[in-house]
Formats: sequence, structure tokens, C-alpha cells
Amino acid sequence: MSLHPLEPLTASEVQDAVRLLKDLPSFQPTTRIISIMLKEPKKASVYEYTGEASLDREAAVVLFDNAANAALTVTLNLSKNEMTKVQPAPPGAQPTLSMDEQTECEQAVLASEEFKAALHRHYGITDTSLVMVDIWSAGFYGDEEDRGRRLTRPLCFLRSEPGDNGYARPIEGIRPIVDLNLMQVIRVEEYGKWPLPPESANYSVEKVTEFRNGIKPLLITQPEGPSFSLTGNQISWQKWELVIGFNAREGLTIHHVRYVDKGKPRPILYRGSLTEMVVPYGDPRPTQARKNAFDVGEYGMGMCANSLQLGCDCVGHIEYLDAHLCDSRGRDLTIPNAICIHEEDYGILWKHTDRRMPDAPEVRRSRRLVISSISTVENYEYGFFWYFYQDGNIQFEIKLTGILSLGTAREEEVLKHGVTIAPLLYAPNHQHFFNMRLDFGVDGIENTVQQLDAVADPLNEENPFQNAFHLQATDLQTEKQSLAHLNLETGRTWKIINPSVKNRMGQPVGYKFLPGDNAFPFASPNAWWRKRAGFVNHHVWVTPYQEDEKYAAGDYPNQSSGGDGLVKWTEVDRPIANTDVVFWYTFGHTHIPRAEDYPVMPAAYIGFLLKPNGFFDQNPANDVPPSKPANHDHCKHC
Ligand code: NI
Repeated sequence: MSLHPLEPLTASEVQDAVRLLKDLPSFQPTTRIISIMLKEPKKASVYEYTGEASLDREAAVVLFDNAANAALTVTLNLSKNEMTKVQPAPPGAQPTLSMDEQTECEQAVLASEEFKAALHRHYGITDTSLVMVDIWSAGFYGDEEDRGRRLTRPLCFLRSEPGDNGYARPIEGIRPIVDLNLMQVIRVEEYGKWPLPPESANYSVEKVTEFRNGIKPLLITQPEGPSFSLTGNQISWQKWELVIGFNAREGLTIHHVRYVDKGKPRPILYRGSLTEMVVPYGDPRPTQARKNAFDVGEYGMGMCANSLQLGCDCVGHIEYLDAHLCDSRGRDLTIPNAICIHEEDYGILWKHTDRRMPDAPEVRRSRRLVISSISTVENYEYGFFWYFYQDGNIQFEIKLTGILSLGTAREEEVLKHGVTIAPLLYAPNHQHFFNMRLDFGVDGIENTVQQLDAVADPLNEENPFQNAFHLQATDLQTEKQSLAHLNLETGRTWKIINPSVKNRMGQPVGYKFLPGDNAFPFASPNAWWRKRAGFVNHHVWVTPYQEDEKYAAGDYPNQSSGGDGLVKWTEVDRPIANTDVVFWYTFGHTHIPRAEDYPVMPAAYIGFLLKPNGFFDQNPANDVPPSKPANHDHCKHC
């Protein structure tokens, strides 16, 4: 099998791109490479792709020149070894912070005499060897400075010794401001003095002194290997076929998802990606009020991905895929084992016992294919998990874990906007909002989205027992009509149908979108972060497909003044019925911290489910055979 047109760029393709970029007249010694990712071919040509004649491989590049404080996008045709397009980004656009800038920013703060002097004034120390500097984008608060410079406002912490959890001791009163173009601290803001919280809170295996007992081995063995087959980034498993993607900005993406039904691969989802997220904090105090993190657009979820060989904790037969990126100077940056692929047993798939034949229960075990990746954005971890099930379900789940973003409290201080979780240590309330872009292609490119609301019938003579309710399906016609919130009163869901393809009952084939947990933002619509994160205004947005509409907060949310992305595009109110549609879902997790979230937070889960709904003629997993009998006398029928 040759390289599928949607497979991410290989390491050598990334290096080919770097060579082409360095030949550009506009590529200066001060130019940083922010990202190089696959420029995906036209959808129609991917659908027509047969695996023989390969399509041209192209790269989409974002560059940033620190000297000019300006970004540039470049398109390269790697197959023809040529540059096809160079376009300046809008003035003031600040692309994602590169990993190198993150590292260099920490060094700049630690080397700053002004920072050292402040540290001495507050804590009587000048040794910065135990100080941790976490880069935080400066955001945008209407100042000329935010508009005209590439800025960060790092948060700093003090370890008590090397290897210590520094987040236990926030340096609350000192905020260095760094200009990344100069790579210098331009000033140190001071907000008053706080003590250092007195306690350590370590979690590493070297530092936990007492472990619990009684955990006996629980082994998953797959003596015949896994049930999936992987060729490059193309995977097939239990009638599913898809391509696994990865890039510096979005991290893990999935492409061209098909389910083989009666021998024929039927397309369902063309592309699934996390387009943006934001973590706004709810504390108005000056040391905390500017905290919000757009982890995709500001830091790059792929750039922050973990190498999982030792850190995914999956069991069974695991295959990994590497991620091929480059640093801001174009040097190869391969994250080995960035994507983990394995199967999991998932309890009962279906079961029925005929009461008259109690000795012949029919039960099938479910298993799922798990494709995952985990990113560390400074203190926090996000795990991204795609699950594929034998009955046609697709699930996406984010696992939120890692360490809370903490602040210091003073003795006797009552803090209304958060929770004290250890002596003098305080965790502000916050929310996490994610936006997923689901580019559906249910049995073809042209689809319609229906909003489904269950409603009670009117109380009249046709409803004598007042029990009747029915499902109201609204075919969404325009973008503005599609903007919606979840609604528990109507059990609102959505269905993506192909009006031209019918199942054997004559219904249009479809996939249902079932939301999971969600939240509304508490900040005012005029809060600075909300202007930049307009995607939190609605849980659901539907747009017609446009190649360049990929990120819910626009291409350059970092330090943006807002109004870009979904908010801007949907203002046009384009038609969305029976066309190539994209379904955008915003989901939020309100995090009121608790003592048990410390030192490392047990994973919280949030996500959604896609379920076939009239897509198949019946349960597609009716053909799953019973499991082989286990050699357990207590379970003679399994
Ligand atoms: Ni949280």
C-alpha cells in the first residue's frame, strides 16, 4: 500500500520543506518556522483515490520573523520541489508560540537582573536555579503593547530541591513580562508580597514514601496479536478503515473514516480535529485575572505531545506512531510514539436471554479500538482518545489531568474565587472549553444537519392520556439557524444525514451526534478572553465546508483582539442544507477545584458520541461471534 494522500508529512518531507523554505528570499536569520503540516489535497480527489497514482504532496507552513514581528504563510509542492504561494499574514497576527521560544523565554527570565532583584526583595534569594518559569501568552487586553509586540506573562514557581513539584510554591507577587522578539524581560510587575506555601506535595515514585498493597497482576494478553492492521498511518480494524493524522497545532486528527458494510467501505467522517480550546480563570485579582490559555492556537497541542512509550499506561498489544515536526530553526523534531493504538475489552456489546431457553443466553463481548495522544501544556495534561466500536459507534473523549494552576493565599485570607487546597495554597475556579471540528461525509460529500428535539404533544382529544411525545427534526438551512445550545428539556441531539441515500426503510441514512457533559461560560461576553474565543457562544455551529476554515477562534488567536473564526464566518449566514457541511461542537468543563485534585488531579472525562442512526439496516454487530469459552468453571456459558 502506498502513502495515503491524508497521511501526515514524513520526517524527510518535513526536511524537504525546510530546505525549500530556507531558499526563500523572505526567510531571514530571524525567521522562525512555527509549523509545517500537510496541505491536504482536495476532498474529491481523495474520494477518487484508488491507491495507485499518487497525488502531489503539499505542505502548509507558518513562518514568523521576530525582527519584523510579522507572520507569513507558505504553500509548498513537495512532489514538484517548488514553492507555490507566499502570503503575508494580517498585520499583528501572532502565530502559535514555538517550543524554542518557550524554552528561551524561561532562560531569559532566569537571566534577568530585574527578576533576580525582585526575587531577592520578596524572598531573600537570588539563586534562580530552582525557579520554574511557565510561559503564558500575554493575551490581549486592549493595550497598544498587546497589539504591537510578541509578549508573554510567565508564571513562576519555586522548587525546594531539584525534582520537587514546584507548583506547590507559586511566586505570586512577581510577573515578568517578556518580549519574545527581543527575547528579553521588558519589565517585572510586582503586585505585593506573599509568603511561600510551607508544604511540599510530591507525587513521583521516588518521593512517595508509602504505597498501598493488594494490587494483584491483571494481565491482558493477545497471543495472536491485535485485530487491527496498520500500514503507515492507515488502519483497518473490525470493518473500520481510517487514516491517522497529526500536526503541530491540532495534534491527533482522524481522517476518511469508513465502515465496511456488506463488503463496501461507506464514508462517515472525513476529518475530526480539536480546533481550539481555552481555559479561562475566574479570579479578578491582578495576579490571576489575566490567566486564560488557548492551548491549541497559543501553544500547539501537537508540539506539546508526549512520547508515549513509557507514559501511556495502556495494556495489551500496543502500536505507536511517531510525530514528525521540526523546531523553529527547522531541525528535525520527531516525537517518538506520539500516538498510541491498541484494543480494549469493553464489557457487553449486546445480550439477550429468551426466558423460555435460560440455558442458551446470547451474549457478545464488545471491544474497541483506541487511538490516543497526550499533551502536556506546562502544568496540565490533556489526553485525546478516539474510540471505534464494532456497532458503528465513534466516541471522542478528553481526559483532563495534571496539576492545577495554583496561586498563593495569605494567612487568614478568604478567597471567594477558588479553593484553598493546602496551607497558603489556592486553586482558582476555572473552565475548560474545547471546540471540535467534525467534517462529516455520511455516504458522500453532501449532507444535511438536523436538530432533533423531543417534544410533548399538545393536550387535546388526540392525546387523551396526555402521554404522547414525538421527535421534531429540523433540517438546518443556514448557519445562523444552526447556532444552538444543548437543551435538556428537549433532550436535544443532532443528526447528520445524507438526503440522497436511503436505508431499506426509505429513511435517509444518518449518524447521530450525542453531546456529553457541557457548560456555559460564566465570564461576560465582553470579557477580553471571550472576544477572542467566540466559539464558546454556542455549543453547536454548522458551516459549509471551506478549506481555510479550520480553527474555531481563527488562524491567529494568540494576542488577537477577537472576532475571528466561527463568529465571523457564520455572520454571512451561508446555506448549509444538502451540501458539504462541517459540524462544530464546543464543550466545557467547569472546574471548581477540590483538595483531592492535588497534587495531581485524577483524570476527569469529557467528550461526545457519534452513533449510527438509520445508517445501517440493522445492528451491524449482529455478526460478532461469541467469545471462545474461557476455562473458568464459574462461567461455563461465556
Ligand atoms: Ni481544570
